[in-house]
Amino acid sequence: MQRFKKARNNGLIGSLSLALLLGAGRAQTPTPVAHLTAEQDHQRLLDLLHITTLRPGKSGSPDKPNAANYDEAKANPFPALPDPLVLSNGKKVTSAKVWWEQRRPEIVEMFDREIYGRVPAHTPKVTWEVTSTKSGVNGDVATTIKSLVGHVDNSSYPLITVDIQMELVTPLAAKGPVPVMMEIGFIGGFPRRPGMPPPPPQVGPTWQQQVLAKGWGYATLSPVSVQADNGAGLTEGIIGLCNKGQPRKLDDWGVLRAWAWGASRALDYFETDKAVDAKQIGIEGHSRYGKASLVAMAYDPRFAIVYVSSSGEGGAKLSRRDWGEVVENLTATGEYHWMAGDFLKYGGSLGWGDLPVDAHELIALCAPRPVFIGGGATNGDGWADARGTFLAEVGAGPVYRLLGKKDLGTTEYPAMQTPLITGDLGFRQHSEGHTPAPNWPTFLEFAGRFMRASGGAPVKGSF
Ligand code: GCU
Repeated sequence: MQRFKKARNNGLIGSLSLALLLGAGRAQTPTPVAHLTAEQDHQRLLDLLHITTLRPGKSGSPDKPNAANYDEAKANPFPALPDPLVLSNGKKVTSAKVWWEQRRPEIVEMFDREIYGRVPAHTPKVTWEVTSTKSGVNGDVATTIKSLVGHVDNSSYPLITVDIQMELVTPLAAKGPVPVMMEIGFIGGFPRRPGMPPPPPQVGPTWQQQVLAKGWGYATLSPVSVQADNGAGLTEGIIGLCNKGQPRKLDDWGVLRAWAWGASRALDYFETDKAVDAKQIGIEGHSRYGKASLVAMAYDPRFAIVYVSSSGEGGAKLSRRDWGEVVENLTATGEYHWMAGDFLKYGGSLGWGDLPVDAHELIALCAPRPVFIGGGATNGDGWADARGTFLAEVGAGPVYRLLGKKDLGTTEYPAMQTPLITGDLGFRQHSEGHTPAPNWPTFLEFAGRFMRASGGAPVKGSF
């Protein structure tokens, strides 16, 4: 009031400064975060796409009319896959140069536009803080445990705060920088919800102890500290921060791409930590985090190796396969947030056979770096379709060969528990359910060919 009076008394100049003051005040008040339920946001995307109905997904219950298929005779309605080595102009890719300069960017563009969505051209800076450094012991190995927080710059939209949580554990006795396996998962282990069956008893050393036994370190990145795992959260987290609290455009990034972005920011941190050999960072994830780990590996050439566990639909499984989970499950309200809005088309106006790319090409984007894919038995892990992920790896083989690397070594599906780990693509189906644990020893045997605790040659990509 006082200021207003003064402005009036100052005539024209006063009015101008009042206008400026009000204008500045307005600019400083950001539009509040939009709150939509997953159902509202999902409907909003369908409206933008002019889609009135989506086909229903498959059910995990065998007695339902839309029960998931587990009959191999019916599993391949679209046996012809898009060819990773044919350019969109129809020409064959016959040299590594054409792969790197033309075909690979074409495939990336299709995944960006139609499947996982685009990361904004400018994402905010992340400043890592070591919040505590403690000594620990895991099994019989003395360790250093660092708790880390990656503060995401939110000066462009202060209503949203994103603090990425990570924990890094390295062997105390390390003589120099160590390779690190980073899990996209839960710091402190998988949270047990009430009523959940108890975890299977740990047989032998945990994966972390197996990693330490090789003289390597391990890290856990909390993906939900980057982006919540639901549609209602899309106007918050890193996606919401970049959109200033507003809903996504059709080709904006989905949650899998945001989790992968978080993994890349973790790798930025490793590049600054002298305890870590940032040229030897592996990434692992199970189930939805298996999907995210493959996306991270495909998009960030700095990751040296990946273990993708039971990633299923939207991960390493061919979407053209009718086995377990299918595209229509991904386009429903419980999972659409993992994907770009544009992806919803493939559960409505378009079908699986219309997808411009499939999982074999996501794996091909990782070439020439080593990729290990695992899954469990149909009885217990059928939903994630281990064979469909094997077939995707077979489909990525030609790209590995073009780049002078070794494919899986076979196109025949191996017997359960048979490791295929002599090439640059690795695979094993274990005999248990939905768990990454039984394949860790096989993965580490595979990884041992590429990563060394000290003095060994780190993995080299052609980047
Ligand atoms: C569901 C979902 C899968 C996902 C899994 C998980 O089963 O359908 O796609 O991988 O949850 O993350 O555990």
